Amino acid sequence: MNETILVLDFGGQYNQLIARRVREQNVYAEVLNYTTPIEEIKAKGYKGIIFTGGPNSVYDPASPTYEKEILELGIPVLGICYGAQLMAHLLGAPVKTAPVSEYGKTEVLVDDHEGILKYVALPEYGKDVTGCDKPGRTIMWMSHTDYIAEAPEGFHITAHTKDCPVAAMENTEKGLYAVQFHPEVMHSKEGSKVIRSFVRDACGCKGDWVMDSFIETQVAAIREKVGDGKVLLALSGGVDSSVAAVLLSKAVGKQLTCVFVDHGLLRKNEGDEVEAVFGPDGPYDLNFIRVNAQQRYYEKLKGVTEPEQKRKIIGEEFIRVFEEEAKKIGAVDFLVQGTIYPDVIESGLGKADVIKSHHNVGGLPDYVDFKEIIEPLRLLFKDEVRQVGLKLGLPDYLVFRQPFPGPGLGIRIIGEVTEEKVKMVQDADAIYREEVAKAGVDKEINQYFAALTNMRSVGVMGDHRTYDYAIALRAVTTDDFMTAESAKLPWDLLERVTSRIVNEVDHVNRVVYDLTGKPPGTIEFE
Ligand code: XMP
Repeated sequence: MNETILVLDFGGQYNQLIARRVREQNVYAEVLNYTTPIEEIKAKGYKGIIFTGGPNSVYDPASPTYEKEILELGIPVLGICYGAQLMAHLLGAPVKTAPVSEYGKTEVLVDDHEGILKYVALPEYGKDVTGCDKPGRTIMWMSHTDYIAEAPEGFHITAHTKDCPVAAMENTEKGLYAVQFHPEVMHSKEGSKVIRSFVRDACGCKGDWVMDSFIETQVAAIREKVGDGKVLLALSGGVDSSVAAVLLSKAVGKQLTCVFVDHGLLRKNEGDEVEAVFGPDGPYDLNFIRVNAQQRYYEKLKGVTEPEQKRKIIGEEFIRVFEEEAKKIGAVDFLVQGTIYPDVIESGLGKADVIKSHHNVGGLPDYVDFKEIIEPLRLLFKDEVRQVGLKLGLPDYLVFRQPFPGPGLGIRIIGEVTEEKVKMVQDADAIYREEVAKAGVDKEINQYFAALTNMRSVGVMGDHRTYDYAIALRAVTTDDFMTAESAKLPWDLLERVTSRIVNEVDHVNRVVYDLTGKPPGTIEFE
C-alpha cells in the first residue's frame, strides 16, 4: 500500500478538499466516515489521520465523536475546526460557544513557528503572500461558532486570533496537532504549508503518490484481474470514460471493446474527434465500435417538448442501443465504469447527492451480460484523472473538455429537437467556443455553451425582414456545479460572438446572454 493518510469525516463540507490537498503533496489520502471501527483503522497502517470539520458542537451528546484511543495509537493526528475541538474535548479541555464567532478570512497571529506552523507567516513572506502586512501574521479561513477555550494539558498554543485564544495548538511529543482554521480552502493563503508540514514532517511521508506509478500499478492489476477475458466499455468521449479506455487498452489491448454511441446530440465534430482518437486510425490498441444512432434519436424525439420526457427518451434510447451492441458482442467478462473518487466518497459515506442522481446514466449492469465491474479510476480525483490522461498521451482537447451532460444538446435546445436545430446550436456553440478560447478566458470559466431558445423574433438583415430564432449564450463560474454565477465575459468578446453567430448561422437573428445564477436558474436550460 502507498503511504496513506486517513481523512476521518465528521460531516464537514470540505472533506474531499482535505484529501485533495494531501494528495497535492504526493501522499495518498482516503476519506472514511467517523463510524469506521477503530480496529479497521488500526489494521490499515495509516501514516497519519486528519479529523475533518463538521457542523455540530462537540459538547452536544448526539454529535459525532470517536474513541479517545485513536489519539493514543502513536499515529499523528491533525484536527481541523470541529476536528480540533473534538481532539480538545476527548482530552478533557473545555470547548464552548465562542463569544464572537469567526467567519471568513481572518488574521491569525502565529506565536511559535514550530511543528506544523514551521513555515507559516515567516518574516521573509511579506504582505504579498499572506495578505497581512506584519510578519508573524497570516490570513486563514475561519468558520466556527464554538472554540477551544483552553488547550488540553501538555499542549502548546502556536497561534491565536483576536477572538480565538487557540487558533492552533500541538503536542509534538504525542504527535497531536489541531487548527481552528481551515488550511484546506484556497482562501487560507498558507494553508498548504500546514498540510505539507503535517504529512511530510509530522507523519514522515516521503511522497510516493505519483501518477506514473499509479498507471504502472493499475495496468499490472488490471492485467492480473482480466487474464484473457473480454472487456466492454461505453465510451462517451468525456474525460473519465476516455481515460478509462486508454488505461484498459494499455493493460489488455484488443481484449477491450469500446462502444461509442453517437446520438446526434454531440457538439460540432465531436463524434469524429472521438473516432479519430479511439478508432482504427488512432494510436490506441483496442476495438472501437461507433454506432451512428442519430436518426433513431431524432425520430424518437419528434414532437416531444417536455424536458423530463426528452431526458428520459434520450437515456432509454442509449440503453437500447448499447444493449443491441452488447448482444452482438455476446457475453463479456468485465464491464468498465468510469467511477471516480468523489462518487466513491459520496456513495460510500452514505450521503445523497440529489443533483447527480438523475444526471448519470447510473451504470449498465442490468442489461449487459457480464461477470464483474472494473473501475480503474475509483481512487482518483478529476484533476488526477486528467494527469493520467495526459501521461497516457490523450490530446488536450479531450483531457480538458468541459463537462457535457449525458443528454447532450438535447437539453440545450428548448422544446422540440430536430436535426436542423441541432445543426444551429452546434454551429453557434462552435463559434462561441472558438472565440472564448481565442480571447484566452476559457480557463477562467467552468462551463460555457450556446443553447437554442424556442423563441423567434423579428429582425432585419440587409433590406429584409427576418423572423428567426434566438441563441442564448451561457457562461458560469462555479466550484461544485451545485451553485454558480454567470461569468463576467468581456463585452467586446460577447459582441464578436454575437456578430459571428447572426452572420454565420442560418435562421438565427438574435443572441442573448444569460445572467442568471444558480439558483434560481440551473446551468443547463432543461
Ligand atoms: P444543472 O443544469 O443541473 O447542471 O445546473 C449542473 C451540471 O451537471 C451537468 N448536467 C448533466 N451531466 N448528465 C450529466 O452527465 C445529465 O443529465 C446532466 N444534466 C446536467 C451540467 O452540464 C452541469 O455541469
